[in-house]
Amino acid sequence: MRSPIGIFDSGLGGLSVAREVIRKLPQERIIYFADTAHVPYGERPLEEIKGFALDITRFLIERGAKAVVMACNMSSAVALDEARTRWPDVPILGVVEPGAKVAVRTCDGRPIGVLATTGTVKSEAYARAVGRFDDNIVVVQQACPKFVPLVEAGLADSEEAEAVSRDYVAPLIQAGCGTIILGCTHYPFLRRAIESATGPGISIVDPAEETVLELAKVLNEKGIASDAFEGSHLFYASGETSGFAELGSRFLGEPIERVISLQASVVCVRTHGS
Ligand code: DGL
Repeated sequence: MRSPIGIFDSGLGGLSVAREVIRKLPQERIIYFADTAHVPYGERPLEEIKGFALDITRFLIERGAKAVVMACNMSSAVALDEARTRWPDVPILGVVEPGAKVAVRTCDGRPIGVLATTGTVKSEAYARAVGRFDDNIVVVQQACPKFVPLVEAGLADSEEAEAVSRDYVAPLIQAGCGTIILGCTHYPFLRRAIESATGPGISIVDPAEETVLELAKVLNEKGIASDAFEGSHLFYASGETSGFAELGSRFLGEPIERVISLQASVVCVRTHGS
C-alpha cells in the first residue's frame, strides 16, 4: 500500500501530473523519472519513444512502483498498450484517454483543438481517443515544437512564450475550436501564455486532473491506496540535471530540497511536508 507511484516524462513536464498527485493524493509517495538524456522527445521517431517508455516503466516497477503513470503524451500514445501487456499486474495509466474524455464532455459538439508535440500529432492518438467517445467531433491538431524547449529553459513566462502561443493557437481559433487540450504535459506550465493567446471563452483541458482521478479510482479498486505518507518522494534524471531541482520545485509547487547524484543519474529527494 505504501509503495510509490511511478511517474515519468522526458523532462520537467510530468511534474504537472506529479503536482496533481500531490494535491489530490497527498498520502501517496512518488518516484519520478525525467529522461533528460533524451529530452525533447517531440521530434524523435515514435518507435524510439516506445523503447524509452518501456525501459523507464521497467525501471520504475523494479524500484517498487505499485502503479505507473506515463505523464508523457507521446509515451502514452505509443507505449501504453505494450506496457499493459508486459506488466499486467501493475496498473499503468496514460494521459491521452483522460484528456480526450474531458474534452468531449466539455466541447458541446464544437471542434476540439489539440496542442501537442510533433510526435503526438503524428500518432493521431487524440483523434482516435476522441473518436472512441464521440466520432462526430472534429479534432484539429497543432504541433508546437518550440514549447518544450521554452519550458525546459525556464522561459514559460516569457514574451517569447506568448508570441509562440499566439502562432500555435491562431489556427485552432480559426477552425472554431471552443476547447483546447494541452496535449503535452509540459504545456500546463505555459498556461498563462496560452490563455493570453486564446482570450476568454475557450476551455483549456489539462489531462492531468482526470488522469489523477482515474489513478485514485484504480488504487482504491485494487485496495492499494496508501493510508499515510511515509518516506520521501524520489526524483531521477537520466542525463542533464542542472536547474532540475530549482525549476522543478517551482513547477511542483514544493521545494525539492536535496539532490543526490548517482553516476549517470541524479536523484533529487524531497522531504514530504517540510
Ligand atoms: N511532455 C511530453 C509529452 O507529454 C514530451 C515532451 C517532449 O519531450 O517533447 O508528450
